[in-house]
Amino acid sequence: MDAFAGVVTGAGGNVGVAVCRRLGKRGANVIAVDVSEEAAARGAQACIAAGGTAEAMVADVTQEASVMAYAQRAVSLWGQAAFFFNNAGIEGSEAPLLSYPADAWDRALAVNLRGVFLGLKAMAGPLRHADVARIVNTASVAGLCATPMLAAYGASKHAVIGLTKTAAVEFAPFGISVNALCPGPIESDMMRRIEAGVSHGEAEAAHRAYEQNVPMHRYATLDEVADLAVYLLLDAPIYLTGQAIALDGGMSAV
Ligand SMILES: NC(=O)c1ccc[n+]([C@@H]2O[C@H](COP(=O)([O-])OP(=O)(O)OC[C@H]3O[C@@H](n4cnc5c(N)ncnc54)[C@H](O)[C@@H]3O)[C@@H](O)[C@H]2O)c1
Repeated sequence: MDAFAGVVTGAGGNVGVAVCRRLGKRGANVIAVDVSEEAAARGAQACIAAGGTAEAMVADVTQEASVMAYAQRAVSLWGQAAFFFNNAGIEGSEAPLLSYPADAWDRALAVNLRGVFLGLKAMAGPLRHADVARIVNTASVAGLCATPMLAAYGASKHAVIGLTKTAAVEFAPFGISVNALCPGPIESDMMRRIEAGVSHGEAEAAHRAYEQNVPMHRYATLDEVADLAVYLLLDAPIYLTGQAIALDGGMSAV
């Protein structure tokens, strides 16, 4: 097996593509998972264009059979996996808690928490066959701080950090590290949607307000997020486990 082979979920999103590209630069083999064919292909293509090997796979992370299928594909390709970027997520609706729609709550929790949980269950098998293996669950600074107007998102990301800690302890005997990556706002389509959703047509003002909330007065770049994600997926000491690692310009330190 290639030293670096593994699975990326949400591979066609902004973070997924940036991470697939960086994994490709490292010559990694990737199964690029996303909910649509087009998105999965985008992740795979980013990896291949950068020099890696990849195949696209369509899977809905909320569906156990789909999740088992991508883990099974890793086994049939490589017999094992060295990394798992458990990254697919959605922002949910933007609304005050008192009027937050219950169906939007259910959907955000399904993708952001059930999806991460099912991924951990399914990928533990292929990962434990590798000598050293690393999991990164994408949480958020929203898992560390309050998230006005984004109750489901914040609750789901707090839960991902809790689940990360449990997985780190339970998977430690298998030689698998499990960490939660917690970016602050990133220059990304997701933030553009959130800015529009919270602001009633004043997206630019919302952008500035979010920036002011960050001690460094700017969002993270996708390159910064991909750098840290790939370090945690391929290079970090295996002894680093169970941590919520913030990349947030100081936001969670305040
Ligand atoms: N963008 C930010 O500012 C930011 C900040 C902190 C954390 N995050 C987290 O980073 C991760 C990636 O976010 P992004 O900015 O790339 O968002 P994005 O919307 O660009 O990408 C998310 C990807 O997940 C996929 N996806 C959604 N539902 C799915 C499902 N049921 N099954 C499979 N795939 C599904 C989407 O198709 C999309 O390609 C998310 O977990 C997000 O919460 C993002």
